[in-house]
Amino acid sequence: MKKICVLMGGTSNERSVSLQSGANVVKALEALGKYEVVPVQLDEDSVDAVPACDAVFLALHGGYGENGGVQTALNARGVPYTGPGAAASKLAMDKIETKKALAKAGVPTAAWAVVTDPAAASPMAFPCVVKPPRDGSSVGISKATDTASFRTALAEALKVDGREALVEAFVPGREMTVAVLNGKAFPVVEICAPGGWYGYKEKYLSDETTYPFPTDDFLPEMQRQAVAAYNACGCRGVTRVDFRVTDAGEMFVLELNTVPGMTAHSLVPKAAAKTGLDFPALCDEILAAAACD
Ligand SMILES: Nc1ncnc2c1ncn2[C@@H]1O[C@H](COP(=O)(O)OP(=O)(O)O)[C@@H](O)[C@H]1O
Ligand SMILES: [Mg+2]
Repeated sequence: MKKICVLMGGTSNERSVSLQSGANVVKALEALGKYEVVPVQLDEDSVDAVPACDAVFLALHGGYGENGGVQTALNARGVPYTGPGAAASKLAMDKIETKKALAKAGVPTAAWAVVTDPAAASPMAFPCVVKPPRDGSSVGISKATDTASFRTALAEALKVDGREALVEAFVPGREMTVAVLNGKAFPVVEICAPGGWYGYKEKYLSDETTYPFPTDDFLPEMQRQAVAAYNACGCRGVTRVDFRVTDAGEMFVLELNTVPGMTAHSLVPKAAAKTGLDFPALCDEILAAAACD
């Protein structure tokens, strides 16, 4: 029987979601009846607490778990792990580097600029979105509608990153996400957040956000762009690609999530279920693709 360690918790601000994802994955892998499953809760950015095993299922969101840190440590140990490798994880965690990689592959993202000077004027027309380039869960992200709100937004983003802020054209319209597993796209899920903004509150505190399956004509194109984005960043296993799409159907990739949520309410399991793949079978497929760099 193969011994599988499920890593969860960690030190990022997504720790509590990670604990839910991890518990859910443990239950699913146990239900398959063919693995010895060991839950491992991490409380620091290190794999010292991980016992010897045949493979690691990563349920660590944000920070060390998603930025190439844990991937580098597991490469060094020679233990295969789920999801993208170290370089792809690091790239996808960096919104600026991601934009460069996507541009090269012809995948559209919103117009953007980088600001390092806290006193700089907005390089983009209003409204725009100001974000720290290497964080997740919407921390330090805000929409600026005029010079005054831009000042506040820039200060917030620079406080998180310490060096630079990404300023992006605000894309009006709807938000959608596409899970890609082993290079194949699952059905598109729409994220209908109250007020059209999927911030920290809408993600973790509000239960007003709904996640329907849209029926628009452009969905196959969005799935194609999601796979192109996945390939452009060198992903493997499972990755979720988030989009904004205007009412005219013009789509822009917002970001890639290389360790997407696996809780009972998460979007990847929801999209997989739509194709008939239940949660344990989904976890088994993700695990089957586990690898080292
Ligand atoms: N350019 C944009 N146009 C419109 N909304 C945006 C834009 N960038 C971010 N948002 C909103 O902010 C949320 C968080 O931004 P995102 O880039 O996904 O950062 P995070 O890594 O924190 O999730 C998005 O889900 C979306 O609702
Ligand atoms: Mg996001």
